[in-house]
Amino acid sequence: MNVLGIETSCDETAAAVVASDKTIRSNVVLSQVDKHRLFGGVVPEIAARAHVEHLDRLIAEALERAGLSFRELDGVAATAGPGLIGALIVGLVTAKAIAAAHRLPLVAVNHLEGHALSARLVEPLDFPYLLLLVSGGHCQLLIVEDVGRYRRLGTTIDDAVGEAFDKAARLLGLGYPGGPAIEHAARTGNPARYDLPRPLLGRPGCDFSFSGLKTALRHHVEALAPLDERSCADLAASFQAAIGDVLIERTRGALALAAQRLRRAPEALVVAGGVAANAHLRARIAKLCAERGVRLVLPPLWLCTDNGAMIAWAGIERLYLGLTDPLSVAPRARWPLDEAAPPPAGVGRPGRLGARA
Ligand code: KG4
Ligand code: ZN
Repeated sequence: MNVLGIETSCDETAAAVVASDKTIRSNVVLSQVDKHRLFGGVVPEIAARAHVEHLDRLIAEALERAGLSFRELDGVAATAGPGLIGALIVGLVTAKAIAAAHRLPLVAVNHLEGHALSARLVEPLDFPYLLLLVSGGHCQLLIVEDVGRYRRLGTTIDDAVGEAFDKAARLLGLGYPGGPAIEHAARTGNPARYDLPRPLLGRPGCDFSFSGLKTALRHHVEALAPLDERSCADLAASFQAAIGDVLIERTRGALALAAQRLRRAPEALVVAGGVAANAHLRARIAKLCAERGVRLVLPPLWLCTDNGAMIAWAGIERLYLGLTDPLSVAPRARWPLDEAAPPPAGVGRPGRLGARA
């Protein structure tokens, strides 16, 4: 079975062809980061227009590299949410047109499911496992019980963790995207120089919050202005250490909670999303797993960041179960994997969460 996967939920335009034997026949990703850099973050309208401009060419390239024509495909999968609505429409409508024209089954994939199942594309991995999803749009801990069966243990009540890195980098004048810039600056910094808060640490549950940390950082930056290189590096290191403490403590708690809920230890901890590129965080998570005797699966970086291969793979997992979608399926800006999960602690009114949460 060969499936075309299309991803346009945010600022990456991506198309891939994956085979059911896990061969990645092609995987083409076009990052729009340069288009958004000027604005210090993703501009939804610019993202949608860029997808329109490039998607057809990327799909043609993905097919060409795979050595396949539309007729030789067995299905088409596209991200239908959560994400920027204008951006999602471009990918989903394109997938519908291909499905209609070539009489292919359509799979409307939840982007988070794409991340959640991606580890199974590159490693033998059974259900259930725990997923720490850390990206520019998400910060969640989920039990992946099966395809389509997820239990959310925690999520962010304000910013996603990558978003926190991006905002912190902007405060420190380090540019965009912020994660790599902070990691680079932190290498020469002293993580103990500034005492930054660890929001929600020690509180019950597995939810996250990063806005207080960002505000504390802003106060330091204002007090130190103009910021010299030494203080900037020390602030970056202190910020990264605070994020690390929060992620480690929450993940430790989630491993225990998952074991309790499942009445057995999860098969592994999987970490996905762009923030999983951070070497400081990777080392700390590896240490936690070694201490706990937990198998750690860190998918390769090209699979951690947004891509079409993970969407094609989620499509294959769904097609195997006979799960397809009608051409009338609608994109969803919000689409939690665990629809039954209660809102995170501290979130009173609907609408407080960001569009992608
Ligand atoms: O998964 P991703 O490529 O896109 C989505 O948001 O879905 O994640 C991008 C995010 C950005 O916020 C970026 O700053 C962050 O991942 N990131 C990092 C690092 N590399 C990328 N954060 C911390 N350290 C890094 N090395
Ligand atoms: Zn993503």
